[in-house]
Amino acid sequence: MAYISLDELLSSGVSGRRVLVRSDLNVPLEDGKVTDDGRIRASVPVITALADAGARVVVMAHLGRPQGKFRTEFSLVPVVERLRSLVPLTVRMASDVSGDDARKQAGSLVGGEVLVLENLRFDARETSKDNAERDSFAAELAALVGEDGVYVDDAFGAVHRKHASVTDITRHLPAYVGNLVSTELKVLGKLTTNPDHPYVVVLGGAKVSDKLAVIDNLMERADYLLVGGGMVFTFLAAMGHKVGGSMLEADQVETVRGYLDSAEQAGCEFILPTDIVVASRFSADAEHEVLASEDIENATFGASGLGLDIGPTSAESFARHIRSAGTVFWNGPMGVFEFDAFADGTRIVAQALAECDGFTVVGGGDSAAAVRALGFDESSFGHISTGGGASLEYLEGKELPGLMALDRQ
Ligand code: 3PG
Repeated sequence: MAYISLDELLSSGVSGRRVLVRSDLNVPLEDGKVTDDGRIRASVPVITALADAGARVVVMAHLGRPQGKFRTEFSLVPVVERLRSLVPLTVRMASDVSGDDARKQAGSLVGGEVLVLENLRFDARETSKDNAERDSFAAELAALVGEDGVYVDDAFGAVHRKHASVTDITRHLPAYVGNLVSTELKVLGKLTTNPDHPYVVVLGGAKVSDKLAVIDNLMERADYLLVGGGMVFTFLAAMGHKVGGSMLEADQVETVRGYLDSAEQAGCEFILPTDIVVASRFSADAEHEVLASEDIENATFGASGLGLDIGPTSAESFARHIRSAGTVFWNGPMGVFEFDAFADGTRIVAQALAECDGFTVVGGGDSAAAVRALGFDESSFGHISTGGGASLEYLEGKELPGLMALDRQ
């Protein structure tokens, strides 16, 4: 694919020009406050580079899934407040997406200033399945930056979406690729084409059904596939173990058994936890004990206990594989890391990635949030992806609509 880089735009001169930047500012909020600002911080360099070059920067982004209606709890106001605290720039905010206020403020922006539009998804046309609806919204957004305006896509986390601000907009404005997107492509490309071996893939998170395609695609490439998190119980069930009240996707047991059976032929070894931290209920202060993976139903508090983390022996074995890897890709926490008692598996895996001399990639979403929440220094990892679903779909080998729209071949 051929993309036009942000550097090309900067070297052609942007002083005084209006630049419409698509950022991914979709961050978790609690009581109206940003709880993990990773994506906001990751978006700062491109916004700053453009503003420093004298551009009038109009930033557009989504937050959550407000279903096409204005809903205060999905407003970008807290995100903009956080952005203001991170950049020494004038950051204005429009009270609408592409309406009167957005037009007025975009019109009066001066070079070096930033305007953030309200949540794109307050307009139902952003995510519409109807091409004409999306296109009419894209035209309104493009009009905000006028005749010599340009578009920069820096929202890697949204490139898997066929949305007006991601795909349709490129029919209305010359399109450039932001550094966040180009860096992600370089990193994820290395994971699929030329990884150093041993190549260790660590998968966790709640559902195995979200990871099937990525397992399919990476099994051929990886040497070891380490499995933790809620998805592990479907693997244990496929091996014939009882999993008590643990999370189980019964309809995936056969598929998972197929993976276990075909792994050897694919040259990949599954490493599954041999011990599990089993809790009496899903709660931070639940009674819990460590049991062998085949003994989950034998907890002292009864047979309905649920596994909320991998056990210490498994965590140590995972860490050994990770520390001696040439390449590691990690997606999904090993347990319910939000509860202290069930955070050790995730912490030990993160620590091993931080200590590994090979190339380490933390694949967006919950695992990226986990390394920050557990207090790890982000610079100890080779790369922390800003894409959750987007990185997974890239690694599944899917064509991503946002990238196709940026292709200038
Ligand atoms: C993400 O959080 O993965 C991206 O911001 C995309 O959000 P979405 O899954 O709501 O489209």
